[in-house]
Amino acid sequence: MGNNRTSIHGQWTSRTVFILAATGSAVGLGNIWKFPYITGENGGGTFVLVYLLCIALIGIPIMMAEIMIGRRGKQSPINTMAALAKEERRNPSWVWLGWMGVAAGFLILSYYSVIAGWAMSYVFRTAGGMFLGVTADGANSIFTELVSDPERLLAWHTIFMVITIMVVARGVKDGIEKAVTLLMPLLFGFLLLIVIYAMSTGYFMDGIRFLFTPGPIDGKGILIAMGHAFFTLSLGMGAIMVYGSYLSDQHSIAQAAILIALADTVVALLAGMAIFPIVFANGLEPGAGPGLIFQTLPIAFGHMDGGTLIGVMFFVLLVFAAWTSAISLIEPAVAYMVENKGYSRIYASISIGFFTWFVGLGTVFSFNIWKDKTLTIPFLFEKLTFFDTLDYLTANIMLPLGGLFIAIFAAWVMREQSTREELATFPIIYKLWRVLVRYITPLAVMVVFLKAVGAI
Ligand code: TRP
Repeated sequence: MGNNRTSIHGQWTSRTVFILAATGSAVGLGNIWKFPYITGENGGGTFVLVYLLCIALIGIPIMMAEIMIGRRGKQSPINTMAALAKEERRNPSWVWLGWMGVAAGFLILSYYSVIAGWAMSYVFRTAGGMFLGVTADGANSIFTELVSDPERLLAWHTIFMVITIMVVARGVKDGIEKAVTLLMPLLFGFLLLIVIYAMSTGYFMDGIRFLFTPGPIDGKGILIAMGHAFFTLSLGMGAIMVYGSYLSDQHSIAQAAILIALADTVVALLAGMAIFPIVFANGLEPGAGPGLIFQTLPIAFGHMDGGTLIGVMFFVLLVFAAWTSAISLIEPAVAYMVENKGYSRIYASISIGFFTWFVGLGTVFSFNIWKDKTLTIPFLFEKLTFFDTLDYLTANIMLPLGGLFIAIFAAWVMREQSTREELATFPIIYKLWRVLVRYITPLAVMVVFLKAVGAI
């Protein structure tokens, strides 16, 4: 290949392991917690359709670009951008794309950890039998009671950050590889079980109809669908790039990207099929917001045979899914500190983890003492809490912007020769990728941005 760099952080043992790790990064709270509630808030069918289109036309090409850039640079996204810009004799300021990614990952993890904390607390609530025979109102008030208690949220947020730092500090290989191989298939199995329960509610088709029947959508809904395509595939901030930097040169990138995107999409759709029938069967509101899965799934667990066990397993797996995602959010920053500051992995993970934890306090308070402290976001004309602001800013602005520039870098800045070397696959696939990433992907991202601000 065109360079003889090696990563100082090590290499995945096989391509399968890379696919599993990247799938572990992709499949997380985004699929099971976020996808259903934003689908509910944005009216269902058309939102899902836009999301699927964005996965295919924007997500997969950008994922290939990220893996390719990472593997070619073989360093943290910051140093990779610097090295490749230099190698291609381009403007060194491309390095800021790496910095923006590190910032986005840090901000996302700060709130991601708080929500993962909810899932942790639900493991124990379910195990304690709190949901046996629960009504919709009961499940709702149990959720409200949790989020209105800042101390409890803080405790779980702290525990989640600690376990995330523990894995990252040990290096990616020993921890994540093993966990992911075992846990992802299990999560899939449990989701299927809940879908089967959802079929028994008698409202399964209502759920399906909600997910797949087109309805009205506005510019903001389209932006949220696109932002979510980035979020759910872990794109636009260097997470997949840094995972790509641990991938050996001989493996095919296109196939890997397609498999990862497919697995991620199937999990999200299954989550939707599990949740919406329960929503309709219990007369709940699909647009209930971030608490949606916590208010619906316990009803299912409280009424099905063996529900306590299934519920406990489900929330445990959700925590694992969040865990394998959280690691990838912090890895780019840790890799950079190790490369440039000479820090040990342990020191780098703890210091970045500490700052992330601190910023997470804002999200902890967003659901209770700061509930009414809101900010107005440009172009949105809506008042958002600290948590909503972070979520909106990262998922809908920083990630698509990062992705747009990654596409431009891969398609217009890198020489065709370089990308062809990395993506050596069937010529037709390479051609298709290049057309997508050169024209379609950037155009689509820009159109969505313009539509969201009402310019078109
Ligand atoms: N994709 C994960 C999810 O759906 C979250 C995540 C992990 C992420 N790494 C990321 C989002 C990088 C954006 C960028 O839960």
